[in-house]
Amino acid sequence: MLDFLGNLERTHLCGDLRAAHAGQQVVLMGWVNRRRDHGNLIFLDIRDRSGIAQVVLDKELTPDGHAKGEQVRPEYVVAAVGKVRLRAPDAINPKMPTGEIEIESTQLLVLNDTRLAPFSPAEEAIQNEEVRLKYRYVDLRRAEMQRNFRLRHDITLAIRESLSRQGFLEIETPILTKSTPEGARDFLVPSRVHPGEFYALPQSPQIFKQILMISGFDRYFQIARCFRDEDLRADRQLEFTQVDLEMSFPRQEHVFAVVEDFLCAGFAAAGVTLPKPFPRMTYDEAMQRFGTDKPDLRLPGLTDVRSAFTDENLATLQIDSALPIVALRIPNVGELSRKEREDNHPLFDQKKGAKFIDDFKRLAKGFPEAAAKVRELAGASDADFVIIVAGDPAHHIKASDTKFEGRLSEREINVLAAAGNFRTELAKKYAERHGAFRVTDDAVYNAHAGKQVDGSAAFHPIWITDFPMFEYDLASGKWMPAHHPFTSPHEHDMANLVSDPASVRANCYDLAMNGLELGSGSIRIHRKDVQQQIFQSLNISDEEARQRFGFFLDALEYGTPPHGGIALGLDRIVMLLAGAPSLREVIAFPKTAKAIDLMVDAPTTVTEQQLKELHIRVALKS
Ligand code: AMO
Repeated sequence: MLDFLGNLERTHLCGDLRAAHAGQQVVLMGWVNRRRDHGNLIFLDIRDRSGIAQVVLDKELTPDGHAKGEQVRPEYVVAAVGKVRLRAPDAINPKMPTGEIEIESTQLLVLNDTRLAPFSPAEEAIQNEEVRLKYRYVDLRRAEMQRNFRLRHDITLAIRESLSRQGFLEIETPILTKSTPEGARDFLVPSRVHPGEFYALPQSPQIFKQILMISGFDRYFQIARCFRDEDLRADRQLEFTQVDLEMSFPRQEHVFAVVEDFLCAGFAAAGVTLPKPFPRMTYDEAMQRFGTDKPDLRLPGLTDVRSAFTDENLATLQIDSALPIVALRIPNVGELSRKEREDNHPLFDQKKGAKFIDDFKRLAKGFPEAAAKVRELAGASDADFVIIVAGDPAHHIKASDTKFEGRLSEREINVLAAAGNFRTELAKKYAERHGAFRVTDDAVYNAHAGKQVDGSAAFHPIWITDFPMFEYDLASGKWMPAHHPFTSPHEHDMANLVSDPASVRANCYDLAMNGLELGSGSIRIHRKDVQQQIFQSLNISDEEARQRFGFFLDALEYGTPPHGGIALGLDRIVMLLAGAPSLREVIAFPKTAKAIDLMVDAPTTVTEQQLKELHIRVALKS
């Protein structure tokens, strides 16, 4: 019963038809979204990428078409020939962009039928994400997904245009390469030609973009695929895309200006105006005010509430008076029962040497003045949920107390981070009540449907600067680069590189938005002597450095200009603007949390022959 297309050509996209088209002869092609059979009249909603149009099959006008209309089912692929006409006033559907018209069909071709799909793309997403991912081709037909990928395209295009306008050249760098230093595990690709040797997939184009600066390209960018073998989360995929850039002779200011320009352009493509310039905060300030280096500015920060307590109070409450005492406030949560509060406790990170007080009734009984003062300092109303987080003397974890010129010690950071984490987790949990996390979805969707909205209320970018250069890794007892080992230290902290690594600040910066790290970059080391010093302070031997990055150390000796750059997660930008809960909504063919592509069924075993060619034997534990 299937028809051939013959000479028929599509004239319009379904979603483009308006009242102005009335009277025109059209040919539409697409999928049957819904079908309603009213006896002599059959209504087919036909869907293509642009939207949906209603086609009417009248038994009298087109007995053939009507007969076919009786047989077609949702998701059949059809072509409808007919004339656009205005709907009767009572049949106008104001919810549909094409709701004023319908197509009076004279011919219907059935181009393909379909097996019954496990879910209907005419409906909202089904709960079972595994089924969505296995039948991704059906899932991607849904209006929401179509919109997400148009959004992704528009954002990417705007970013590309901005960077090109700003003098950046897009240059591709290799996918089959050598290990890069981003700190995650590499994906390795065995070489057939060189037995026992492996390429690594790039965790980022980092070294290549620095080499492009040595090569005199001055301004490089790439919408670059990156590969990292790490545990997946909602905001992490094994392969993802960066807006990656590098520039020669820059100051941090220049990198910021470039990013603000392209990010504003990307957001504008989604109908959102970002305020420029973006605010800035040092790492220490962000930790102090928010307990995290990616603060979510939509919610109140932490409040220092030490002044609410007397020394006696602190001793009785068993609070470490040498460490920060902060309150966190989640607005509009309302009164919580003891059980509800206890359910929150697993959200607190016990391992940071901090404790918390969330029972204000009890606190108010024993310490009425302190309790009242805390609420006052935190600016809490009756409906707000307030928690105090402080150092726990009974849980004194191994960490450094050393402080440098007004900067935070590691132990202080730990307490603040525990508070910051708790704040974000609770904010997510109670998002429905305080409302701040819901701003995005509707606003952005409306914006993208053509209505300009003020996105400044929904999106809060912030630069975080002056990160510590090194982090102490308790497990290995080693100093690790907080960013990557090519990040330049602050010039005036150079003297402390080996003697006092904890005091060294890095010339690196992050861009955070709504609690998410969007990007990260730095001014790089361009001198070989400084690079060697950094390797030394990281306990990377000359031999190891040469083996891992020898080619790069060589390149540094051939006239390297001062340079710096940044990379932003493109998937994360799109996720935010789509109001999506996970990257999987904005990556066409993502991996599940268990690192599986359910549609193609990867990874899989390979044949003995393939293994043999690659000189590989699989040693599986049985
Ligand atoms: P970094 O490793 O911080 O820096 O990565 C930069 C940005 O890339 C995004 N990102 C990810 N997105 C999705 N899934 C992942 N697994 C993932 N990992 C990172 C984040 C992050 O902020 N070469 C340096 C940049 C530089 O110094 O110029 C780099 O890759 O949004």
